[in-house]
Amino acid sequence: HIIKKCDFFYTEQKEAKGLGHAIGEGESFIDDEAFAVILPDDLCVNDGDSVLKQMVDLYQKHKCSIVAIEEVPLDEVNKYGIIDGVEISDGLFQINTMIEKPEPKNAPTNLAIIGRYILTSDIFEIIKNTATGKGGEVQITDAIMQQAKNGKVLGYKFQGRRYDCGSIDGFVKATNHFYQKQK
Ligand code: G1P
Repeated sequence: HIIKKCDFFYTEQKEAKGLGHAIGEGESFIDDEAFAVILPDDLCVNDGDSVLKQMVDLYQKHKCSIVAIEEVPLDEVNKYGIIDGVEISDGLFQINTMIEKPEPKNAPTNLAIIGRYILTSDIFEIIKNTATGKGGEVQITDAIMQQAKNGKVLGYKFQGRRYDCGSIDGFVKATNHFYQKQK
């Protein structure tokens, strides 16, 4: 179904220089338009609209970059980009702080970025000017924080469930979820 409706292009990140750098490698595919980023190790499911559809609808209203967020246990904040901000409506935050993988004692909240982003195209220039950050890599979290300083970025507590398929536990749970669904 999707193959009939879409064109597919791909590029390769030839050096492991971080998620910000990887997204920068897609610049030639994007004109002056907002685009979505999906990190496939975060598998999101919802009975209603998909998480990305929920975010596209929000984008139509706010016309700014949006990151998906969810609460995580405090002892796991160092696995994620963590945000803080002002809750402008139920589950929607105007972001004023983003920190990549902080230690729990330095984390402003337990609101973690999940691998669904809508980004406005000014991100590409910002990425080029983003210094290497956590882990010696160009972090998209740092680039989006710059967008938040320049204007507005939203964090959205999505409807649905996320499986962390980058962990064995999450991968097995996701497999069981789809097994139960097709039974
Ligand atoms: C990346 C991002 C991080 C985000 C996470 C979501 O980290 O750098 O900010 O919270 O994806 O899965 P990674 O999981 O690639 O280390």
